[in-house]
Amino acid sequence: MPSHAETPEPTVLITEGTIGERVIDLASQISRDYRAKGEVVLVGVLKGAFVLLADLSRRLTIPRRIEFIGLSSYEKGSVSGEVRLEMDLRHRVEGKHVLIVEDIVDSGNTLHYLIDLLQARNPASIRTCVLVRKLSRAERDVQVDYLGFDIPDVWVVGYGLDYAEQYRTLPYIGVLEQVEQSGE
Ligand code: IMP
Ligand code: MG
Repeated sequence: MPSHAETPEPTVLITEGTIGERVIDLASQISRDYRAKGEVVLVGVLKGAFVLLADLSRRLTIPRRIEFIGLSSYEKGSVSGEVRLEMDLRHRVEGKHVLIVEDIVDSGNTLHYLIDLLQARNPASIRTCVLVRKLSRAERDVQVDYLGFDIPDVWVVGYGLDYAEQYRTLPYIGVLEQVEQSGE
């Protein structure tokens, strides 16, 4: 693991305070929307969504359960967007109100795959909450019901997001200038 001195300092894109305010807004919007529905199952996508899931879930005022799913996406030759299920949910979601919590939508392939996967299990409903979306790179018109921020086409780290497993625990979202957009 590189020492701190070897990892370049990201440039702040979205401050800790701005993220905090947005998470409060999202949580109250979600709490309002689900009030009449009963329990919501929050499905956090590992690993990047763990910070948003922790902050968001603690701000909700509705009954909720926490579940995790593990996905990986990788590029294969020139064909990007292959997604693999690394760790499945522990419990059934049939008849449940599912809210997917994801860190980032880039091409949209990962979220698209996950919605299809869970839809096939006959939940009562599926919605998605995404921290950041790179609008310019979206290859798919993927369903984002609750969005933190739209961002430009840059590599972002912090608040759960990583570069080579570094920076996930930064309290803000920053840009790593020297990273090439490669997907994985
Ligand atoms: P997708 O292209 O929407 O399927 O996103 C694929 C995955 O690439 C995401 O779930 C993230 O793990 C990763 N990713 C894409 N862009 C970034 C970024 O700017 N920072 C950190 N991870 C990213
Ligand atoms: Mg992810």
